[in-house]
Amino acid sequence: MDRIEITGGARLSGSIPIGGAKNAALALMPAGLLTDQRLILTNVPRLADIRTMTRLIAQHGLAVETTAPRTLSIGGTITNTVAPYEIVSQMRASILVLGPLLARQGEAKVSLPGGCAIGTRPVDFHLRGLEQLGAVIELDAGYVHATAPNGLKGAEILLPMPSVGATENLLMAASLAHGVTVISNAAAEPEIVDLAACLNAMGARITGAGSSRIVIEGVPVLHGATHDIVPDRIEAGTYACAAAITGGDIVLTGARVGHLAALHNILREAGVEITEQNDGIRVKSSGRLTGVDAKTDPYPGFPTDMQAQLMAVMAVAEGASMLTETIFENRFMHVPELSRMGARIVVHGASAIVRGVSQLSSAPVMATDLRASSSLILAALAAKGTSVISRVYHLDRGYEAVEEKLSACGASIKRLKD
Ligand code: UD1
Repeated sequence: MDRIEITGGARLSGSIPIGGAKNAALALMPAGLLTDQRLILTNVPRLADIRTMTRLIAQHGLAVETTAPRTLSIGGTITNTVAPYEIVSQMRASILVLGPLLARQGEAKVSLPGGCAIGTRPVDFHLRGLEQLGAVIELDAGYVHATAPNGLKGAEILLPMPSVGATENLLMAASLAHGVTVISNAAAEPEIVDLAACLNAMGARITGAGSSRIVIEGVPVLHGATHDIVPDRIEAGTYACAAAITGGDIVLTGARVGHLAALHNILREAGVEITEQNDGIRVKSSGRLTGVDAKTDPYPGFPTDMQAQLMAVMAVAEGASMLTETIFENRFMHVPELSRMGARIVVHGASAIVRGVSQLSSAPVMATDLRASSSLILAALAAKGTSVISRVYHLDRGYEAVEEKLSACGASIKRLKD
């Protein structure tokens, strides 16, 4: 397994191109199952999770081809409605084929994803919503077996919580249902807006995406389309934290300022300068940071996918800060690893109290999940000495060319191949 070696201390400066959003791509690729025509996605990031989704969709019978750099063409005939445990267990977003397969084929069998490092993460909202659309759901031998031989019917669905994945699955299923579906308490993330825009380009009739109430007027068929994937706000946010923690000055080219407002407010309060430019966002830090409290929330709140990275920044801020996690129950696995690098952090239930130190020290550390791994990269960039981060396959799921992007800004970082 590869490791990453970082010698900390460099103030990063330069520009970093922000790629297409992983989480948008993972919902857009299954949308290819909704039509017998070609769906062409551009600005597709090169990531392990995208390769996993490619394998999943291909084993349903579709051809997924790279027709130009960062361009995927998805099309063909569905020949298999089973999403096997072998793939779903590797990546929870695999559950997003359930809605499209069911709507298109009247049947789908998808392995239950199970828990993961950051929590139990059930899929009950997805299943209840599909039942409300008329599906019959049975759980058998670890698989969800969903059937709707006479098609799905529009319904009023109130999500118990604005789940991103459930909103996406239901958006796709309802696009091909008979009649009108209203999803209330829907997730409003930019990735939902992106999915709805792509579905509308395919002939769907969706309004309200980006608000908590989405209305979908079902249509009998969807057609092909070409869609450019929205920039990755979490990748942008992570590199904004890299500028903050190293006292650097980085332009995040292609990033959208509006998608990161909650993070920007927190970083500004901590003393970081953030300005919008024609080509993206400039993040400039003197390196003197002040501790700030933050709580994760559904969009437009502060994203749970940025909590670990912000914690690394707060570890070197002056004074204390309290970071509260409200989305996932077990998302503090980075705390013991950051502590090995000299961070002073105490966890009380869903909150972590961080008492800033003047400098972190290098250590061998281990990535435990995707965002935890990027928080360790950030900590290592600011630490005295050379750190080695192992289990970087977590990082490769969600960050493209991280060594190249950071070394272009002056970081001393290299991959140690196993
Ligand atoms: C998506 C993102 C993930 C991000 C998360 C929250 C993708 C591929 N992943 O994950 O990076 O951290 O949104 O912004 O887009 N829940 C249930 N039952 C359900 C569904 C969700 O109880 O059926 C709970 C979850 O356990 C969690 C909360 O709802 O506590 C939010 O989860 P959700 O928004 O669904 O996250 P994902 O779509 O899995």
